[in-house]
Amino acid sequence: MSQNPLSQALHLLQEEKVVVFPTETVYGLGANATDDQAVAQIYAVKNRPQFNPLIVHYPTIEAMEPDVILSPLARTLARHFWPGPLTLVLPWRSKGSRISDLVRAGGDTLAVRIPRHPLALELLNKCPFPLAAPSANRSGFLSPTTAAHVRDDLGDSIPLILEGGDCTVGLESTILDLSGETPLLLRAGSITESDLAPFMTDLFAEENKIREGSPHKILKAPGQLESHYAPCHPIRLEAITASPEEGFITFGPPPSHKASHVYHLSLRGNLIEAAAHFFKALHWLDEKKIERIAVMPIPYEGIGMAINDRLRRAAADRPS
Ligand code: TXA
Ligand code: MG
Repeated sequence: MSQNPLSQALHLLQEEKVVVFPTETVYGLGANATDDQAVAQIYAVKNRPQFNPLIVHYPTIEAMEPDVILSPLARTLARHFWPGPLTLVLPWRSKGSRISDLVRAGGDTLAVRIPRHPLALELLNKCPFPLAAPSANRSGFLSPTTAAHVRDDLGDSIPLILEGGDCTVGLESTILDLSGETPLLLRAGSITESDLAPFMTDLFAEENKIREGSPHKILKAPGQLESHYAPCHPIRLEAITASPEEGFITFGPPPSHKASHVYHLSLRGNLIEAAAHFFKALHWLDEKKIERIAVMPIPYEGIGMAINDRLRRAAADRPS
C-alpha cells in the first residue's frame, strides 16, 4: 500500500472500505456511495438504524448532475454556499444514477453537499466516485470535531483516519429540503435562516419557522431522533450557576460557581466561537467524574439556534 495517507485513503475506498475524513463541520465516515457493500459498512461501523439516509459528498456541482435534479434555486444556493456547510435534499434521478439504494434508505430524494475542508476536497477530487458520509461517531453519540474524538469512539473498527485538525465550524451542516413545494429547514446549522432568506421569496412557510423554545417541532430529517447527540452524563439546561458535582459549560462572562470542571464556549459571548467548541466541550466533560453537565443559556439567534437544537437533543432521555 502507498505511504501517503491520501493515497492510502483512495486505495481503501476503492477496496469497498470505510475511511474517516475531516470536513469543516465534523469528521465524516466515508465510503463509495455507488457501492452497496461499502455503504453497508458505514451502517455496521456506526451501528446505525437502517432507515436513516446518508449525505453524499461531491467535489463539484457537475459531479452531482447524474444523481440529482438541481432546480434554479438549488443552483443559486449551490453557487453561493458551496463549498460549505449546507446540505441540500434534492429529487433523486432514478434513471442513470449509480447511487446505492442504501444511501437513500430507499427514498426518492438525495441529500448532497460539497464540503469546504481542503483535505476533503482533495480526496473527493481524486476519488472516482462520490462519498456517502455520516458523522464519524457511533449512532446516538456525539459528533467528532477532532481526529482524537473519532479514535476514542470508533477505535479499531476503521482502517484509516485522515488527520485534518480541528473542524472550524464544529456543528453538522444546515440541511435544507428543496424536494417539495416549499423549502424546509430540516436541521439548523451555521448557515442560518437569515443567510438563506435573501435567496427565497417563499422561504419557509409560517408553520415551518423555527420558533424560540420549540425548534424541534420543524426538524423532520428522518435521522433526527429525539436523543441524538447524547453524552454519558445527564444535562441540565439554562443553568445560571453550577454545583461541585457538576461540570459547567459557560457562554459569555462566567458567573460565580462551584463546579470542578469548566469549559468556556466563548468568554466574549461569540456564537460562532461557541459552536466551534461545542462538541469538544461535551467530549471533554464526558471523560470527567461528574454527575451532570450544567449548561448556561445560549441565545436563540444565528448559529445559536443550531447549538440550542443540539443541546436539547443532548439533554433528551436516550431511547432504551
Ligand atoms: O456536516 C454534516 O452534514 C456531516 C458531514 C460529515 O458532512 N454529516 C452528517 O451526517 O452530519 P449525518 O448522517 O450524521 O446526518 C445527516 C442527516 C440525518 O439526520 C439524515 O436523516 C438526514 O441528514 N438526511 C440524509 N439524507 C436525507 C434525505 N434524503 N432526506 C432527508 N433527510 C436526510
Ligand atoms: Mg450524525
